Amino acid sequence: MTRKAVIVGAGGGIGTAVANALAAQDYDFIHTISRSEAFAGDSRCDHWCSDYSESSIHEIAAAIEHSPGKLERLVISNGILQGESFRPERALKQVDAQATQHVFHVNTILPMQWLGAFEGGLRQAERARIAVLSARVGSIGDNRLGGWYSYRASKAALNMMLRCASIEFARRHKGTQLVAFHPGTVDTSLSRPFQRGVPAERLFTPEFVAARLVGLLDAVETTGDLLYLDWDGKPIPF
Ligand SMILES: NC(=O)c1ccc[n+]([C@@H]2O[C@H](COP(=O)([O-])OP(=O)(O)OC[C@H]3O[C@@H](n4cnc5c(N)ncnc54)[C@H](OP(=O)(O)O)[C@@H]3O)[C@@H](O)[C@H]2O)c1
Repeated sequence: MTRKAVIVGAGGGIGTAVANALAAQDYDFIHTISRSEAFAGDSRCDHWCSDYSESSIHEIAAAIEHSPGKLERLVISNGILQGESFRPERALKQVDAQATQHVFHVNTILPMQWLGAFEGGLRQAERARIAVLSARVGSIGDNRLGGWYSYRASKAALNMMLRCASIEFARRHKGTQLVAFHPGTVDTSLSRPFQRGVPAERLFTPEFVAARLVGLLDAVETTGDLLYLDWDGKPIPF
Protein backbone atom coordinates (compact mmCIF):
# COMPACT_ATOMS: atom_id res chain seq x y z
CA MET A 1 0.00 0.00 0.00
CA THR A 2 1.43 3.39 -0.96
CA ARG A 3 1.22 6.14 1.62
CA LYS A 4 1.18 9.89 1.30
CA ALA A 5 1.62 12.85 3.62
CA VAL A 6 0.58 16.47 3.10
CA ILE A 7 1.97 19.61 4.73
CA VAL A 8 0.09 22.89 4.31
CA GLY A 9 2.06 26.04 5.12
CA ALA A 10 5.28 24.28 4.19
CA GLY A 11 7.12 27.57 3.60
CA GLY A 12 7.21 28.39 7.33
CA GLY A 13 9.90 27.39 9.82
CA ILE A 14 7.90 24.59 11.40
CA GLY A 15 6.17 23.55 8.14
CA THR A 16 9.50 23.10 6.33
CA ALA A 17 10.98 21.10 9.21
CA VAL A 18 7.89 18.84 9.40
CA ALA A 19 8.06 18.16 5.65
CA ASN A 20 11.76 17.28 5.96
CA ALA A 21 11.06 15.01 8.95
CA LEU A 22 8.30 13.20 7.04
CA ALA A 23 10.52 12.91 3.95
CA ALA A 24 13.04 11.06 6.12
CA GLN A 25 10.36 8.44 6.87
CA ASP A 26 9.11 5.84 4.41
CA TYR A 27 6.24 7.75 2.79
CA ASP A 28 5.89 7.18 -0.93
CA PHE A 29 4.69 10.73 -1.57
CA ILE A 30 5.09 13.96 0.40
CA HIS A 31 3.04 16.89 -0.87
CA THR A 32 3.99 20.37 0.32
CA ILE A 33 1.70 23.38 -0.12
CA SER A 34 2.69 27.00 0.36
CA ARG A 35 2.30 30.54 -0.94
CA SER A 36 5.91 30.19 -2.14
CA GLU A 37 6.51 28.92 -5.65
CA ALA A 38 9.34 26.65 -4.59
CA PHE A 39 9.88 24.47 -1.53
CA ALA A 40 13.22 25.06 0.18
CA GLY A 41 13.32 21.68 1.95
CA ASP A 42 13.75 18.06 0.88
CA SER A 43 13.76 17.65 -2.92
CA ARG A 44 11.68 14.45 -2.70
CA CYS A 45 8.61 16.58 -1.85
CA ASP A 46 6.05 17.34 -4.57
CA HIS A 47 5.36 21.04 -4.22
CA TRP A 48 2.14 22.96 -4.88
CA CYS A 49 1.96 26.77 -4.84
CA SER A 50 -1.37 28.14 -3.60
CA ASP A 51 -2.79 31.64 -3.24
CA TYR A 52 -5.09 30.13 -0.59
CA SER A 53 -8.20 31.19 -2.49
CA GLU A 54 -11.14 28.79 -2.16
CA SER A 55 -10.70 27.60 -5.73
CA SER A 56 -6.99 26.96 -5.28
CA ILE A 57 -7.58 25.08 -2.01
CA HIS A 58 -10.17 22.82 -3.62
CA GLU A 59 -8.21 22.26 -6.85
CA ILE A 60 -5.02 21.29 -5.03
CA ALA A 61 -6.77 19.09 -2.45
CA ALA A 62 -8.69 17.29 -5.23
CA ALA A 63 -5.53 16.76 -7.30
CA ILE A 64 -3.73 15.31 -4.27
CA GLU A 65 -6.77 13.16 -3.38
CA HIS A 66 -6.70 11.64 -6.87
CA SER A 67 -2.94 11.11 -6.86
CA PRO A 68 -1.50 7.74 -5.80
CA GLY A 69 -1.35 6.72 -2.14
CA LYS A 70 -3.54 6.78 0.92
CA LEU A 71 -3.55 9.95 2.99
CA GLU A 72 -1.90 9.04 6.28
CA ARG A 73 -0.58 12.36 7.55
CA LEU A 74 -1.90 15.90 7.18
CA VAL A 75 -0.15 18.76 8.98
CA ILE A 76 -1.54 22.30 8.69
CA SER A 77 0.93 24.87 9.94
CA ASN A 78 -0.41 28.28 8.87
CA GLY A 79 -0.46 30.99 11.50
CA ILE A 80 0.45 34.64 12.06
CA LEU A 81 0.96 36.72 15.17
CA GLN A 82 1.54 40.09 13.55
CA GLY A 83 1.57 41.76 10.15
CA GLU A 84 3.21 44.68 8.36
CA SER A 85 0.80 47.19 9.89
CA PHE A 86 -0.18 45.57 13.17
CA ARG A 87 1.37 44.01 16.26
CA PRO A 88 -0.15 41.66 18.85
CA GLU A 89 -2.38 43.77 21.12
CA ARG A 90 -1.19 44.61 24.63
CA ALA A 91 -4.40 46.45 25.55
CA LEU A 92 -8.06 46.28 24.64
CA LYS A 93 -7.98 49.67 22.92
CA GLN A 94 -5.48 48.31 20.38
CA VAL A 95 -7.95 45.76 19.01
CA ASP A 96 -8.39 46.69 15.36
CA ALA A 97 -11.15 45.12 13.27
CA GLN A 98 -9.14 44.72 10.09
CA ALA A 99 -6.10 43.24 11.82
CA THR A 100 -8.25 40.87 13.89
CA GLN A 101 -10.13 39.71 10.81
CA HIS A 102 -6.86 39.02 9.03
CA VAL A 103 -5.47 37.04 11.97
CA PHE A 104 -8.69 35.02 12.18
CA HIS A 105 -8.62 34.38 8.47
CA VAL A 106 -5.09 32.96 8.49
CA ASN A 107 -5.17 31.22 11.89
CA THR A 108 -8.73 29.87 12.05
CA ILE A 109 -10.56 29.94 8.73
CA LEU A 110 -7.77 28.86 6.36
CA PRO A 111 -6.77 25.75 8.36
CA MET A 112 -10.44 24.70 8.51
CA GLN A 113 -10.86 25.28 4.76
CA TRP A 114 -7.88 23.01 4.09
CA LEU A 115 -9.13 20.39 6.53
CA GLY A 116 -12.54 20.40 4.85
CA ALA A 117 -11.01 20.19 1.40
CA PHE A 118 -9.11 17.04 2.38
CA GLU A 119 -12.21 15.23 3.67
CA GLY A 120 -12.40 13.26 0.43
CA GLY A 121 -8.85 12.03 1.05
CA LEU A 122 -9.82 10.93 4.55
CA ARG A 123 -12.48 8.67 3.09
CA GLN A 124 -9.72 6.59 1.46
CA ALA A 125 -7.60 6.57 4.61
CA GLU A 126 -7.66 3.89 7.27
CA ARG A 127 -5.66 5.47 10.03
CA ALA A 128 -5.09 9.12 9.16
CA ARG A 129 -3.33 11.34 11.67
CA ILE A 130 -3.87 15.08 11.38
CA ALA A 131 -2.13 17.89 13.25
CA VAL A 132 -3.12 21.52 13.07
CA LEU A 133 -0.69 23.99 14.62
CA SER A 134 -2.48 25.66 17.50
CA ALA A 135 -0.82 27.35 20.50
CA ARG A 136 -0.99 27.12 24.27
CA VAL A 137 -2.04 30.78 24.38
CA GLY A 138 -5.28 29.65 22.69
CA SER A 139 -6.24 27.90 25.92
CA ILE A 140 -8.98 29.85 27.72
CA GLY A 141 -8.36 27.90 30.94
CA ASP A 142 -4.64 28.63 30.85
CA ASN A 143 -4.90 32.38 30.11
CA ARG A 144 -3.47 34.22 33.08
CA LEU A 145 -1.46 36.91 31.32
CA GLY A 146 -4.01 38.37 28.89
CA GLY A 147 -2.94 40.41 25.84
CA TRP A 148 -2.48 39.13 22.28
CA TYR A 149 -6.27 39.32 21.90
CA SER A 150 -6.51 38.37 18.24
CA TYR A 151 -3.90 35.62 18.25
CA ARG A 152 -5.25 34.01 21.42
CA ALA A 153 -8.86 34.24 20.27
CA SER A 154 -8.09 32.94 16.77
CA LYS A 155 -6.38 29.86 18.23
CA ALA A 156 -9.21 29.31 20.76
CA ALA A 157 -11.68 29.49 17.85
CA LEU A 158 -9.48 27.11 15.86
CA ASN A 159 -9.57 24.65 18.76
CA MET A 160 -13.36 24.86 18.91
CA MET A 161 -13.69 24.24 15.18
CA LEU A 162 -11.28 21.32 15.41
CA ARG A 163 -13.38 19.90 18.26
CA CYS A 164 -16.44 20.07 15.99
CA ALA A 165 -14.48 18.36 13.21
CA SER A 166 -13.26 15.61 15.54
CA ILE A 167 -16.86 14.85 16.53
CA GLU A 168 -17.81 14.67 12.85
CA PHE A 169 -14.79 12.47 12.06
CA ALA A 170 -15.72 10.07 14.89
CA ARG A 171 -18.93 9.40 12.97
CA ARG A 172 -17.66 9.47 9.38
CA HIS A 173 -13.93 8.71 9.38
CA LYS A 174 -13.52 6.44 12.36
CA GLY A 175 -9.81 5.74 12.03
CA THR A 176 -8.89 9.42 11.88
CA GLN A 177 -7.29 11.24 14.83
CA LEU A 178 -7.06 15.00 15.03
CA VAL A 179 -4.48 16.86 17.15
CA ALA A 180 -4.33 20.57 17.99
CA PHE A 181 -0.59 20.91 18.54
CA HIS A 182 1.35 23.44 20.62
CA PRO A 183 4.99 23.38 19.49
CA GLY A 184 6.47 25.37 22.39
CA THR A 185 8.48 28.49 21.60
CA VAL A 186 10.23 27.71 18.35
CA ASP A 187 12.95 29.77 16.69
CA THR A 188 11.09 30.92 13.56
CA SER A 189 10.20 34.27 12.02
CA LEU A 190 6.90 34.21 13.96
CA SER A 191 8.51 34.14 17.41
CA ARG A 192 11.74 36.02 16.66
CA PRO A 193 10.51 39.47 17.82
CA PHE A 194 9.23 37.93 21.08
CA GLN A 195 12.07 35.66 22.15
CA ARG A 196 13.56 38.02 24.75
CA GLY A 197 13.22 36.40 28.17
CA VAL A 198 12.81 32.88 26.78
CA PRO A 199 15.52 30.70 28.42
CA ALA A 200 17.81 29.13 25.81
CA GLU A 201 16.75 25.60 26.77
CA ARG A 202 13.07 26.52 26.14
CA LEU A 203 13.69 27.96 22.68
CA PHE A 204 13.35 24.98 20.37
CA THR A 205 14.68 24.49 16.88
CA PRO A 206 12.08 23.73 14.19
CA GLU A 207 13.83 20.39 13.64
CA PHE A 208 13.42 19.35 17.30
CA VAL A 209 9.72 20.22 17.29
CA ALA A 210 9.13 18.57 13.91
CA ALA A 211 10.67 15.33 15.21
CA ARG A 212 8.41 15.53 18.29
CA LEU A 213 5.32 16.12 16.17
CA VAL A 214 6.06 13.36 13.68
CA GLY A 215 6.77 10.93 16.55
CA LEU A 216 3.59 11.95 18.34
CA LEU A 217 1.50 11.34 15.20
CA ASP A 218 3.10 7.91 14.80
CA ALA A 219 2.27 6.98 18.39
CA VAL A 220 -1.17 8.46 18.96
CA GLU A 221 -4.18 6.13 19.03
CA THR A 222 -7.66 6.89 17.72
CA THR A 223 -9.64 8.46 20.59
CA GLY A 224 -12.70 9.80 18.75
CA ASP A 225 -12.04 13.23 20.27
CA LEU A 226 -9.75 16.18 19.65
CA LEU A 227 -6.40 16.00 21.44
CA TYR A 228 -4.85 19.33 22.45
CA LEU A 229 -1.23 18.43 23.10
CA ASP A 230 2.07 20.19 23.57
CA TRP A 231 5.46 19.29 22.05
CA ASP A 232 6.04 16.87 24.94
CA GLY A 233 2.77 15.01 24.31
CA LYS A 234 1.19 16.55 27.44
CA PRO A 235 -2.48 17.60 27.30
CA ILE A 236 -3.38 21.30 27.54
CA PRO A 237 -6.69 22.39 29.10
CA PHE A 238 -9.07 23.95 26.61
N1 LIG B 1 7.11 29.66 16.52
C1 LIG B 1 6.49 29.53 17.69
O1 LIG B 1 7.09 29.79 18.76
C2 LIG B 1 5.07 29.07 17.76
C3 LIG B 1 4.48 28.91 19.03
C4 LIG B 1 3.16 28.46 19.10
C5 LIG B 1 2.47 28.18 17.94
N2 LIG B 1 3.07 28.36 16.72
C6 LIG B 1 2.27 28.08 15.52
O2 LIG B 1 3.02 27.29 14.64
C7 LIG B 1 2.60 27.54 13.28
C8 LIG B 1 3.80 27.71 12.38
O3 LIG B 1 4.46 28.90 12.72
P1 LIG B 1 6.03 29.10 12.48
O4 LIG B 1 6.63 29.26 13.83
O5 LIG B 1 6.56 28.06 11.55
O6 LIG B 1 6.03 30.53 11.80
P2 LIG B 1 6.56 31.01 10.38
O7 LIG B 1 7.89 30.46 10.09
O8 LIG B 1 6.40 32.50 10.41
O9 LIG B 1 5.51 30.36 9.38
C9 LIG B 1 4.27 30.98 9.13
C10 LIG B 1 3.27 30.00 8.63
O10 LIG B 1 2.04 30.67 8.39
C11 LIG B 1 1.74 30.72 7.00
N3 LIG B 1 1.37 32.09 6.66
C12 LIG B 1 2.01 33.25 6.98
N4 LIG B 1 1.34 34.32 6.49
C13 LIG B 1 0.25 33.82 5.85
C14 LIG B 1 -0.81 34.40 5.14
N5 LIG B 1 -0.90 35.74 4.96
N6 LIG B 1 -1.74 33.58 4.61
C15 LIG B 1 -1.66 32.23 4.78
N7 LIG B 1 -0.67 31.63 5.43
C16 LIG B 1 0.28 32.40 5.96
C17 LIG B 1 2.99 30.25 6.28
O11 LIG B 1 2.56 29.53 5.15
P3 LIG B 1 3.29 29.54 3.70
O12 LIG B 1 4.04 28.27 3.61
O13 LIG B 1 2.18 29.58 2.73
O14 LIG B 1 4.17 30.76 3.67
C18 LIG B 1 3.64 29.36 7.32
O15 LIG B 1 3.08 28.07 7.32
C19 LIG B 1 1.64 28.73 13.35
O16 LIG B 1 0.31 28.27 13.30
C20 LIG B 1 1.92 29.33 14.72
O17 LIG B 1 0.80 30.01 15.25
C21 LIG B 1 4.34 28.78 16.60
